[in-house]
Amino acid sequence: MLLISTVAELQKIILEQKKAGKTIGFVPTMGALHRGHLSLLEAAKDQSDYTICSIFVNPTQFNDPKDLTKYPRTPEADQAALEAGGCDLLFMPTAKEVYPDSKSEKLKLDLGHLDQVLEGAFRPGHFAGVVQVVDRLLDITMADLLFMGQKDYQQFAIIRTLIESQNKAVELVMGPTVRENDGLAMSSRNVRLTPANREKAPIIYQLLQQAKADLGREPIASIEQQQQKTLEKMGFRPEYFSIVDAKTLLPINQLKSDQSVVACVAVWAGDVRLIDNLILQ
Ligand code: PAJ
Repeated sequence: MLLISTVAELQKIILEQKKAGKTIGFVPTMGALHRGHLSLLEAAKDQSDYTICSIFVNPTQFNDPKDLTKYPRTPEADQAALEAGGCDLLFMPTAKEVYPDSKSEKLKLDLGHLDQVLEGAFRPGHFAGVVQVVDRLLDITMADLLFMGQKDYQQFAIIRTLIESQNKAVELVMGPTVRENDGLAMSSRNVRLTPANREKAPIIYQLLQQAKADLGREPIASIEQQQQKTLEKMGFRPEYFSIVDAKTLLPINQLKSDQSVVACVAVWAGDVRLIDNLILQ
């Protein structure tokens, strides 16, 4: 695996690969890698000729500066995991490489309500930062395929809008959410859970599954309220448990049988914020 930290070096290698007719598969990450990230690398290896992973803790997407300083960083373990996973190139740039003065402007992209609802309502500015970094990383890597996880469902929907609205020549591929044996969605933040909260955290996925069983049998609003109450009873602080249209992410007034529906949840477990989602139909 090549370890590259500058844009110039990276693009030299990519252009050589492209000249040789190879497709580039790209997995952007913020490091502290776990099996969820590595499953995206596996998909990238299956579907493209040359795989690039990036590790860059993007400062512009942290609406809470404390979250940025607390973000786990495990570069040695990450490198070893990517090497073992068969990644061709690891790109670990500095902030100056990603955002030189000439490229520090945020892309002005109208996401409509997509970045206002769910995560957008609780993390102002977060998605503008995600769009900025993914837009920049796509330009830098010239990727043919971009692999992102269902775990961050709204992020995926927003990046799809970025790609469509900017006519970017990249195919976006969704990887399924990888979970611990007890159902907790893998996340770099899980290591920060107290043992007591770690033990209780599988309730999040159980409530998503319960919502799936209840959809169509009970009013959506009462499912949402019930799940939030249960999370509170467990000692968690839910920010939302919302059942929304899977394409628009807007609330559902009248459930239709052919409608795609997703339940999204965000909850504080102590000082750790966890998110998860499940396609209900
Ligand atoms: P990060 O949280 O490191 O996640 C990198 C990628 O891994 C994202 O596409 C995310 O959805 C996916 N992922 C995380 N946990 C997963 C799981 N349990 N199962 C499957 N996929 C999972 O998301 C980001 O970084 C950043 O916002 C980024 C896109 C890199 C921009 O900075």
